[in-house]
Amino acid sequence: MYNFDEITERHGTGSLKYDLASKRGMPCDTLPFWVADMDFKSPPEVLQALSQRIDHGIFGYSDSIDESYFNALYGWNRGRFDWNIRPEWIVKVPGVVFAICTAIRALTKPGDAVLIQQPVYHPFESSVKDNNRRLVVNELIYRDGRYRMDLDEFERQIVEENVRLFILCSPHNPVGRVWTGEELTAAGDICARHGVFVISDEIHQDFVYPGYRHLVFAGLKPEYADITVTCTAPSKTFNIPGLQISNIFICNEDIRRLFIAELRRTGYSQPNVLGLIACRAAYEKGASWLDELILYLSGNLALLRDFIKSELPNIHLVEPEGTYLAWLDFRKSGLSDQELEQLLVNKGRIWLSSGPTFGAGGRGFQRFNIACPRTVLEQGLNRLKEALGSI
Ligand SMILES: Cc1ncc(COP(=O)(O)O)c(C=O)c1O
Repeated sequence: MYNFDEITERHGTGSLKYDLASKRGMPCDTLPFWVADMDFKSPPEVLQALSQRIDHGIFGYSDSIDESYFNALYGWNRGRFDWNIRPEWIVKVPGVVFAICTAIRALTKPGDAVLIQQPVYHPFESSVKDNNRRLVVNELIYRDGRYRMDLDEFERQIVEENVRLFILCSPHNPVGRVWTGEELTAAGDICARHGVFVISDEIHQDFVYPGYRHLVFAGLKPEYADITVTCTAPSKTFNIPGLQISNIFICNEDIRRLFIAELRRTGYSQPNVLGLIACRAAYEKGASWLDELILYLSGNLALLRDFIKSELPNIHLVEPEGTYLAWLDFRKSGLSDQELEQLLVNKGRIWLSSGPTFGAGGRGFQRFNIACPRTVLEQGLNRLKEALGSI
């Protein structure tokens, strides 16, 4: 019913993904597969709600005054994740990284230790450092083509480094894991035991491939709900990050008070009115669009998998369980990260996300965003092959 094959020209729209390449000195026909937004239009139901609101013509200070916004979020969380949210838990902010920085300042003091699991979405590291907290890295273990948490080391670091806060990425960007109940419970019990707060970044929660299930960390045990700031957003799911709306759920009243006090110190008050409209419409009416999109992305993933297997046997695809981001292992090529990127950009004219930006464990890897029309993905894969030649 929805046409994900449609190509929409994005150059000249101020798009980071498309318009930054030439500014960075890359060839002007570079195809971007880096930043995590999609080349698909938002669901027609969302576009219609937005255009009705735009037709009204007045964009005054706004908020979710009646219950419809909450009801939309409630229905989504209950239906998709079996998680029953309460109205008082919700704090609306412009973005998840904004929420992470706010929570870091609210729950820790300068110099306190904050733990992250690299390779991981790079603003985790910068959010800790930019706020003058001490970074503790718990490296994920990569074995037999799959990533796991190193839970013994996790607990040891928490105790020895006196960690105050853990930033969980679930599902995990870039390694594509959808953490199991056992893994989340093991990590959660350690945090609860040692009085460690958790920021659970669940922005990729809606992108889970058939056979896997996303579990809301705070929904697993009441003691996790009591220590956790859960970050969600319609932005990745419905391709509206430019509308700047994220929903943060904080069950514990004291944590919520600290978070809101920190939020006030930033001067932020009401959300973006178009973000509110789009978010409500997406959660009320976007389910069938999303379900079709997941099938389309599964098709793209199959294409990538088959192409790599037949044409680029020296690259290994770390099979994603969720997210539209594929984590590719180039280490067999023998190329340094610099050599690899030179080839990709200058010879292949494709821009992927550089592995080392996600932490030391990302050396030799690149992240490939597959959320684009299939013909664009085909072009990208052919260019990848061109770039690497016989490597
Ligand atoms: C794990 C993760 N968190 C947060 C974000 C960005 O969130 P926001 O744009 O709301 O700050 C991204 C975007 O790629 C992400 O992958």
